[in-house]
Amino acid sequence: MTARATVYHCKSCGYESSSMLNRCPSCRYPGRFTDGAGHKSGMVRDLVAVPILEIPKISTTAEIDEALDGGVVRGGVYLVGGEPGIGKSTLFLQLLCKLPKNEGKGLYISGEEAVEHVRMRAQRCELDIKDVRIVEETDKAKIEKIIADENPAWCVLDSISIMGNAPDQLTIVKALYILAHKTGMAIFIICHVTKDGDIAGPKALEHAVDCRIDFEGERDDRLRVLKTVKNRFGTVPRMGLLEMTPTGLIDRTEGASFYDMQESVAGSAIAIAWQDGRPILIEVQATVTPSEHPKSIVAGTSQKRVQLVVATLYRVKQEIFCSEIYVAVPGGMQFNDPALDLPIALAIQSAKSCQPLPVKTAWCGEIDLVGRVRSGLRFEERKRYAERLGFELRSAETLLRGIQFE
Ligand code: TYD
Ligand code: MG
Repeated sequence: MTARATVYHCKSCGYESSSMLNRCPSCRYPGRFTDGAGHKSGMVRDLVAVPILEIPKISTTAEIDEALDGGVVRGGVYLVGGEPGIGKSTLFLQLLCKLPKNEGKGLYISGEEAVEHVRMRAQRCELDIKDVRIVEETDKAKIEKIIADENPAWCVLDSISIMGNAPDQLTIVKALYILAHKTGMAIFIICHVTKDGDIAGPKALEHAVDCRIDFEGERDDRLRVLKTVKNRFGTVPRMGLLEMTPTGLIDRTEGASFYDMQESVAGSAIAIAWQDGRPILIEVQATVTPSEHPKSIVAGTSQKRVQLVVATLYRVKQEIFCSEIYVAVPGGMQFNDPALDLPIALAIQSAKSCQPLPVKTAWCGEIDLVGRVRSGLRFEERKRYAERLGFELRSAETLLRGIQFE
């Protein structure tokens, strides 16, 4: 029996080598080679003998880390979708400037804006532009040559949407994928999503990348959501919360609500919703007006959920009759968390009675049709998050007992 040659693997990307290298030629991570248990490529091996990859994640800001499940991965290909004007160019220029340059430069390939405009944006956002290079280019072959010459560690392509039709774009993304994996360059490929929700662009390219991120929000509102819907390096869905300011995007860790936390007004209930793998502080607002034609109008959460809550409130408390009920969760996001039943019920009751709920209190609970309240999924995690933001999280046993209005 011939002895098998020892094969070493990069712990970061899995690159195989017959010798122990100091730096991986594939992903360029230093000192991460491990003994690959003596098997060669093409040989059937015990699964247990396959080395576990340690994928180093480069941290930038808390909310971007949250969306990317830890941070940016070298060699990763990220597709970023979002409507025009939502802030993609701003966010990814900021990210490019934040990524560490000790292992390589940042390269911004601007296909839509003149370099002078990007320079002005960097100035306005007070970015650290050291070791950030920039080029105006939209030609595939020229871009590939530029990347080969510059050899950046981080790259932003802004954007793929103006680089030909859908098949052309897919060819470009595939070429960039090979290049990124070969050189260890992480690349963010920006792609437009049109106003009427046509996500055809990113959808057609999604399978050719490691991660797909959507950047969402209402243009007139400051809140932005960075949502990861595909991630080969981590879990999905995940989201980061950001706010557009006159000097760029900042983290909005305190939640989706712009609620004044010192004050409580009738018709408002603070809730801790569970959305895309994390707790988030929101405000549920309600208004109740007498009407001969009862109806409910809902924004930001599910109409059906509100109708069930109203029916249960009527059954349990014989109230909210002959009313028009308006329920809204401001912030431009849609919440379908069942644990919003209780804050919805409380906001409606508070609006009807004109009594505010206690200050610094957040609510969470699922209501069944007979009026019992369950505290909802991941109550303890929601509670810890609420406490970090200075709120007490409460649920209630039933709708009949429980809530004392102020
Ligand atoms: P932009 O990043 O150009 O969006 P996209 O690349 O998605 O089209 O940003 C668009 C809007 O953001 C622009 O209308 C102005 C606003 N903005 C700010 O509010 N603050 C800022 O610091 C910057 C740079 C832009
Ligand atoms: Mg742009």
